[in-house]
Amino acid sequence: MSFTDLTRARYSCRSYEKRAVEPEKLDAIIEAGRIAPSAHNNHPTRLVVCDTPELREKATKAAHHFAKDGSVFGAPVVLLACAKTEEAWVRRGDGMNSSLIDTSIVVDQMMMQAVELGLQTCWVCMFDPDIAREEFGLSADTLPVSMLTLGYAADTIAEPDAREARCIPRNEFVL
Ligand SMILES: Cc1cc2nc3c(=O)[nH]c(=O)nc-3n(C[C@H](O)[C@H](O)[C@H](O)COP(=O)(O)O)c2cc1C
Repeated sequence: MSFTDLTRARYSCRSYEKRAVEPEKLDAIIEAGRIAPSAHNNHPTRLVVCDTPELREKATKAAHHFAKDGSVFGAPVVLLACAKTEEAWVRRGDGMNSSLIDTSIVVDQMMMQAVELGLQTCWVCMFDPDIAREEFGLSADTLPVSMLTLGYAADTIAEPDAREARCIPRNEFVL
């Protein structure tokens, strides 16, 4: 699939089949995240792979709004992307810490790789990072930033017109 087609095929999937994600596909998705660019090449992102009932349950405790069948949206895999904020590049002048940007690139690359492999995802930020840190025993300098649910879709993408209606118009997007 071309990258253009991938960007049109991706959507936020909130219902998943019970079918497991093949280990080689999960491996390829993790690898797509691992090689993502980061500011100053500092690679501050760390990943928690929740692919067992115990780990999915831990993720669900942090994202309880989306709990379904012992997982977040019932997904067979939940990837928790965390940032070691103190390892990230900091811009001189305004002190901007790039860890959220770096971690989001990791999640984005994993998300698009998943779609290429016939899977779907939902990017989730509405969760409690303190609960996630506690459940996974993460150190104080490891900030849980985003979850990415992952699996075979049990719902379907909206029609193109409906998707377009929810996007920002081109003339507002380009300044
Ligand atoms: C940074 C980020 C955080 C998000 N957090 C959530 C979330 O917590 N729960 C959720 O259901 N969707 C979440 N989403 C999905 C968005 O709601 C979704 O991408 C948007 O509505 C567009 O729909 P689409 O992804 O189907 O194109 C998030 C997306 C992004 C990029």
